[in-house]
Amino acid sequence: MRRHPVAQMVIVGAIASAIGIVIALVIDWFPADAAEQAGPIDTLYDVLMIVSVPVFVLVTTVTLFAVWRFRMRPGQENEDGPPIHGNTRLEVIWTAVPAILLVSLCSYAYAVLVDIEEKHDDQLVVHVTGQQFAWRYRYPQPGGRAIETTALVLPKDRPVLFKVHAEDVIHDFWVPAFRVKIDAVPGITTEVRATPTKLGRYPVVCAELCGLGHAVMRSSVRVVTPAAYDRWLQEQTAPAGGEATGGATAGGEGEAGGGGGADLAALGRETFVSNCGSCHTLADAGTSGAAGPDLTTALRGQDEATLREDIVAPDARITEGYQAGVMPDNFAETLSAEQIDGLVAYLASVSR
Ligand code: CUA
Repeated sequence: MRRHPVAQMVIVGAIASAIGIVIALVIDWFPADAAEQAGPIDTLYDVLMIVSVPVFVLVTTVTLFAVWRFRMRPGQENEDGPPIHGNTRLEVIWTAVPAILLVSLCSYAYAVLVDIEEKHDDQLVVHVTGQQFAWRYRYPQPGGRAIETTALVLPKDRPVLFKVHAEDVIHDFWVPAFRVKIDAVPGITTEVRATPTKLGRYPVVCAELCGLGHAVMRSSVRVVTPAAYDRWLQEQTAPAGGEATGGATAGGEGEAGGGGGADLAALGRETFVSNCGSCHTLADAGTSGAAGPDLTTALRGQDEATLREDIVAPDARITEGYQAGVMPDNFAETLSAEQIDGLVAYLASVSR
């Protein structure tokens, strides 16, 4: 017993490590993987676990063994341990081994980082803007124009460079299925890359506590075929016709009256889609946000004065099941008077 404590620990440690590694590799830790970046990152995690488990087992085994083997026995209450001057060989080993381990793992992680951030010539640039409490996306187009949306749509197999901005406080753009994540910081532009490889819809999450609505600051990314992406782009570039028709019928009956009313409601719909749609579902506007109440039903029968108050002073009246302080209370400053008039006219026309 006294002769082989180290041998015993080695055996116990090796068995525990083997079991630990098997468990760590069998558990399915990762969300869906939908980007090229996912493979190397998941492998990095697996390697980290394979290396960490024996280290954890070593520390725990030595600690438990020392607690048991050198425990205080009756009659030893006032005894002190023998004086020790250290053990140079042991100290060299326990400094050198972790140092080598850390340098190797850091080099490997750095190589993975270089790999997943590799630049591509045919990259698609998408600007992402975080604002309490929604994400907006901007696709620069040839000729200096840009498409602004609240929906993130990406073509499969095309490298994407996200340029990330923040309007107010620090947010964090995270697509778990792509495995990439970057802070959105006011005043600077941060960048992150991903190449989607699987069709489907995946969550976009804000991963930085940014206020009351942080938990609902979610969106989604749709990975589509290149052909579907081109079609979607075209729909975004030429939507004016469809919108004007919808607005004209609604606005004509509105209190603003005449041709001006149609324009106003059309402006209102446009304002709604780009400012409200990422948080509110409204069937007429084709938006599907889920952070705030579904306005397809919530607005029914509201008069224009109430609608106006709901926009400029959102905390005055809170729909049951929702919280005050989540909807921005500064639309009176961030939108023009005309845009707000438009929103009121448009919402009044669809909530009748
Ligand atoms: Cu934005 Cu949390």
